[in-house]
Amino acid sequence: MLKKTKKTALLLKLVSMALLIVMIQSLLTLPAMAAATTLGAAAAQSGRYFGTAISNGKLGDSAYTTIAAREFNMVTPENELKIDATEPQQNVFSFTAGDSILNWATSHGLKMRGHTLAWHSQQPGWMQSLTGTALRNAMINHIQKVMAHYVGKLAAWDVVNEAYADDGTQNRRQSNLQATGNDWIEVAFRTADAVEPGVRLCYNDYNIENWSAAKTQGVYNMVKDFKARGVPIDCVGFQTHFTGGSSLPSNFQTTLSSFAALGVDVALTEVDVTQANTTQYAGLTQACMNVARCIGITVWGVRDSDSWRASEAPLLFDGSGNKKAAYTSVLNVLNSVGGTPQPTNTLQPTNTSTQPVGPTLTRTPTQVVTTGPTATRTSTPTTGPSATPVPTTVGGGGCSPVTATITAPFTKDGAGTFCWQIATIPSYVNNWNNNSVTINGTNYTNIYVGSASLPAKINGFYYISYNGSFAWSHLEVR
Ligand code: XIL
Repeated sequence: MLKKTKKTALLLKLVSMALLIVMIQSLLTLPAMAAATTLGAAAAQSGRYFGTAISNGKLGDSAYTTIAAREFNMVTPENELKIDATEPQQNVFSFTAGDSILNWATSHGLKMRGHTLAWHSQQPGWMQSLTGTALRNAMINHIQKVMAHYVGKLAAWDVVNEAYADDGTQNRRQSNLQATGNDWIEVAFRTADAVEPGVRLCYNDYNIENWSAAKTQGVYNMVKDFKARGVPIDCVGFQTHFTGGSSLPSNFQTTLSSFAALGVDVALTEVDVTQANTTQYAGLTQACMNVARCIGITVWGVRDSDSWRASEAPLLFDGSGNKKAAYTSVLNVLNSVGGTPQPTNTLQPTNTSTQPVGPTLTRTPTQVVTTGPTATRTSTPTTGPSATPVPTTVGGGGCSPVTATITAPFTKDGAGTFCWQIATIPSYVNNWNNNSVTINGTNYTNIYVGSASLPAKINGFYYISYNGSFAWSHLEVR
């Protein structure tokens, strides 16, 4: 009897041990979450992007383009959209190189950030010699015309770059633009917003990663003030050039989350790190991943040999295109985050203080909300036939600057026809050769009042310009 009980106990023990082994085995053989194998795919798991600076001159280098197309899902032209590149002579624009990068990016499924519209550096000679009102007007004209060319095509614009000083104060940098008046930055953002409200409008700077730095606080206070007063700003770019002198600060995440708390997206826009230090690369990636509104990371070049700091080997691929240790450290952080934190859909206006109030601005529950860093607004606060497009200033084209207000009605009639009327046209506008209205690229000449069949919407908007591509206004017609 005793023997039998002992036997049963032993049997029971054996069975439970076997069961345990089976359970452990099945746990071990559970299919693991597949880790992404490229930077872009790994970042996309959490709705973010991973980008690189691209040089148009290198698009013929297949080793370069192979890595770029495989690893990244965002590009920033390294120099091709800077002021000296896009407006080499005053009011003469050149988009060939920028368009070439955009075409390459689009055909490979990558998005593009625009860099940069207003900056003290890389200005063409003609702009460097301007001052005062002439310079201010040139800046406005530049923003209008360059943005108009890329309406509906970019994920973001660095509207203003590097406007703060490096002298341990919170002050602005001295520059010809700053000398036009302290409001030059907000004028730049308001101008940009009037051209394309649906694209992310960013302020971009370096050495603003350390929360304790006076420069960081200067930029922070500007953004805070802009949000409080309704100056249209959607994001802040942290260049993240870490050199021997400025390495990854331990409070970088605090900086990112503090800016995000103001109601803007944040992004790391030009990352490179001396000798591609793996700890710093992992740390800066983690800092971004820990902040929901950190929408993506861009490194400032593909291979070390492509870098503006080539002698410091600061990028993720060596000159032969091999993945460096820093690459793996970044990829691991991106994969460890996986699909958990989804950045909020930041293109939906979140700061109600900047939104005019009223029943027409209420977003209906059925509205489609697009998510992720590449999302574009799907509706605009102005709706319906009674909407008044933003008044725009037109000028240039070899004529004396004039103002014309594009007014309502921009209406859609019952037959699916789009009707418009242009008012407040100074008489001498008739001297212009081509009095025209352009709706999403379709041009209608010599008409102040007219109608046309509806062309296709771009990002939910009709973009309307008067007398050229630089007086954009927009509205949504439902
Ligand atoms: C650099 C480019 O990488 C170089 O090719 C060019 O000669 C100078 O500009 N901050 C910026 C970038 O915003 O535009 C700069 O890019 C690097 C510093």
